[in-house]
Amino acid sequence: MKLPSFPSSPNSFARVLPSPSIPLFLLPVLLVAVIYLVVFPNDFKIQEVMFGSSCSNSGTLASAKLAGGYTAEPPVGLRVLLGVLTRPDTYERRALLRLAYSLQPPPVGAVVDVRFVFCNLDKEEDRVLVALEIIAYGDIVVLNCTENMDGGKTYEYFSTIPRLFAEEPYDYVGKTDDDTYYRLAALADTLRTKARRDMYHGYLSPCHWMPEKQYMSGMGYIVSWDIAEWISATEELRNDHDGPEDRVFGGWLRKGGRYKNVYNEEPRMYDYWDREMPDEVICFRHELMADTVAVHKLKDRLRWARTLKFFNATQGLKPSKMYHVDLHSNMYDHVGL
Ligand SMILES: *[C@@H]1O[C@H](CO)[C@@H](O)[C@H](O)[C@H]1NC(C)=O
Ligand SMILES: *[C@@H]1O[C@H](CO)[C@@H](O)[C@H](O)[C@H]1NC(C)=O
Repeated sequence: MKLPSFPSSPNSFARVLPSPSIPLFLLPVLLVAVIYLVVFPNDFKIQEVMFGSSCSNSGTLASAKLAGGYTAEPPVGLRVLLGVLTRPDTYERRALLRLAYSLQPPPVGAVVDVRFVFCNLDKEEDRVLVALEIIAYGDIVVLNCTENMDGGKTYEYFSTIPRLFAEEPYDYVGKTDDDTYYRLAALADTLRTKARRDMYHGYLSPCHWMPEKQYMSGMGYIVSWDIAEWISATEELRNDHDGPEDRVFGGWLRKGGRYKNVYNEEPRMYDYWDREMPDEVICFRHELMADTVAVHKLKDRLRWARTLKFFNATQGLKPSKMYHVDLHSNMYDHVGL
């Protein structure tokens, strides 16, 4: 049978086909589609993973799931909830944090869910705009408290989380600032080997001084789930907030006999410093380093930019006719790292 090389009309084409119901030129397409379905059945779930899972408690970092799409993912042996305690009106910072965390290489064999946490929304614009963010990202937890409450937000956070996630508890729950950048894979790697009970991880402050009074600095700390449950069940702690919250938190663990498996992540957690700053380098403040778990005091866009560039977040930028971005003509490159 001689096939026309390119049919001049659908009619002339139909005449030479064995079955007129499927045009011949569609057969290879159908065949590829069938093979694709058989080989990559999960591929059709990508949309669901990216846009549908944001409300489940394992979905902030869509890329983390996508990366494991075709290959066998290592089983998840560690689940961490990291709450960024912030205020409703920090829209730009949340946008930056979402961007920064979504572009990080995902932790292997671990899930770290980053959630933004604040008190009740008391402004009309925040109720609407935050509702939209929740619809779009599903990564916000609103605690039953008021933003101006004096010292009770940390208690509210650690006591609410175990109730919220009672059905699917995490191994660890942490708290951090919106000017801190955790490297989630490094965090997961360091937590993997730690105790799963009475665990308190972060940066011990004041550094190298008064060990009987030390506590994890507010830049960020993680505790095991049993500690959060204990806080939740210990109502007296609600009114025990005399002093800075994070110092008080350390005090709770000592008083409760739970200051046991304490892991100081110095020098891998620290305050940002670069050579343009007048401040001196000290135990809690130094240059960016490759092995970082968390950097704190990212107070402005320039510090964020330098930090994200240092950790190679810009390496994914592909050359294109659509833009010219010179990432090498920055001041900091000449100041030296
Ligand atoms: C929020 O807290 C207030 C004051 O403690 C309480 O009266 C109210 O019932 C709480 N609301 C919810 C939804 O738990
Ligand atoms: C960034 O990438 C460069 C080149 O691949 C590498 O040498 C460097 O160690 C990376 N930096 C960090 C902080 O991982």
